[in-house]
Amino acid sequence: MHTATPQVTQPPWWRDAVCYQIYVRSFADANGDGIGDLEGIRSRLPYLARLGVDAVWLTPFYTSPQHDHGYDVADFRNVDVRFGNLDDFDALLTEAHVLGIRVIVDIVPNHTSSEHPWFQEAVAAKPGSRARERYIFLDGSGRGGRKPPNNWLSHFGGPAWTQLEDGQWYLHLFDRSQPDVNWRNKEVRDEYESVLRFWLDRGVDGFRIDVAHSLYKEQGLPDARRRGGLVAPYHDQPEVHSVYRRWHQILEEYDGDRMAIAEAWVADEEAMARYIRPDELQQTFNFHWLLAPWSAASFRKVITDTLRAVGAVEASPTWVLSNHDVVREVTRYGDGEAGVARSRAATLTMLALPGSSYIYQGAELGLPQAEVPEEHRQDPAWLRGGGVGRDGCRVPIPWAGTKPPYGFGADGTTPWLPQPSSWRNLTVEAQDNDASSTLNFFRRALAARRTLVGQLDRQVRLPRTPPGVLVIEREPGLTCVLNCGKRAVSLSRLTAAGESASRGLGDLLISSGDDSAVTAGTVPPDTAAWFRRTAGHHGS
Ligand code: GLC
Repeated sequence: MHTATPQVTQPPWWRDAVCYQIYVRSFADANGDGIGDLEGIRSRLPYLARLGVDAVWLTPFYTSPQHDHGYDVADFRNVDVRFGNLDDFDALLTEAHVLGIRVIVDIVPNHTSSEHPWFQEAVAAKPGSRARERYIFLDGSGRGGRKPPNNWLSHFGGPAWTQLEDGQWYLHLFDRSQPDVNWRNKEVRDEYESVLRFWLDRGVDGFRIDVAHSLYKEQGLPDARRRGGLVAPYHDQPEVHSVYRRWHQILEEYDGDRMAIAEAWVADEEAMARYIRPDELQQTFNFHWLLAPWSAASFRKVITDTLRAVGAVEASPTWVLSNHDVVREVTRYGDGEAGVARSRAATLTMLALPGSSYIYQGAELGLPQAEVPEEHRQDPAWLRGGGVGRDGCRVPIPWAGTKPPYGFGADGTTPWLPQPSSWRNLTVEAQDNDASSTLNFFRRALAARRTLVGQLDRQVRLPRTPPGVLVIEREPGLTCVLNCGKRAVSLSRLTAAGESASRGLGDLLISSGDDSAVTAGTVPPDTAAWFRRTAGHHGS
């Protein structure tokens, strides 16, 4: 007789993964040219394995003139010489996999570099030609077509249009060296599918999709208009979802739960969730977490709204505290000791939630936003007059030693952005043997999460709490308390607040700050702590 074996389906690897973002230029420089590279990353994989991350996301390392530091790609199927070559990539991928670390690479489908052969061909070709159809070329408006075709502005400042000598204008939502491609053109769609397959065949585990919400522009390219906020006809157009349905099918053709995550800066959680409907992408960055100010009420609202919206499409959430485009969280939360304490607390809170957490390199060292002197700034957003720019969160990682380049490259290397002298206390070496360092806090937090993650239910309870405090409960028995208030909160007040009253919060597993205060019965300001109630626990 045949006895049926129950099928146990493993959740896909990415569902609750902690993914570490590597900004390739700034992570580790093996060849001493002041710019990080693939070999540098490979040499630091043991560091990442010890940190305890499940995956890394590598920002673009493809052939590029580097006007937007790699987000201007001239050849999607090759490695820029500054970062290494395809053999280096294969070696990095193989070694990461041996250490149990998955690798996500960036794909940049909204635009190419102006040095991409397609754009070079388009510039040399005539208006109306097939080569120009791959981009968005238009005649100008006004007398003699001397004005741009519409009023769209570049995200980096100035108009989103540049005129060629023959009079036509081309669209670039970013720098003029990043012409937008035309997603209504089949050649464009086919090319990106082929690029996906190129990297999938090499063995990557997933993709981070750059500017995923902007590929389609509204038909007729109408002016952007103000109605409440800015109505941008290049944001979140319905057609974009057809691309991700197709990409979903391609990812499914491969084994190993390959995935893609969208960088889609959209209005609200509902719009965000449309990118992760069952037949679309696996994940989308939840930027609402990083946009939330330091307040228990706003974190609570983001959690509630996210879980509702994501639950409605049966997807799994993500949480993002920082990346290479935003001010580092230490500085966002007020800099100094408070900034570091709050960043640690927000991290521990995020790690208590179901879903995947994205951590930006340097967060584990508690790096603040660096002051980059004007003469050193390189971000095209700064150069185009679009504000102070993003260089301050991209300064190379301090590994060791007491002066620049802090082991980012060999002694004598000049990093592409200057590192502050105050970072000598923040190096990996300086933090490695200090139990109270941010680095060791991250290691403990990721280890604690790894032990728990498979045991916890995905439901989240947010009981009523005193003002300034957020409590997250997950069965069986995990409670995370975050104190954003100005005064310490006593644990007895919390257990009196919700259902946990009868059962107590349990044993302290980890706190983001002073464990002894928590053991003594309070959660200090700017601190989060995890408690675990085990079966035999019946309150105190
Ligand atoms: C994304 C990237 C950013 C880049 C832009 C243009 O927002 O994260 O760094 O400048 O796209 O590719």
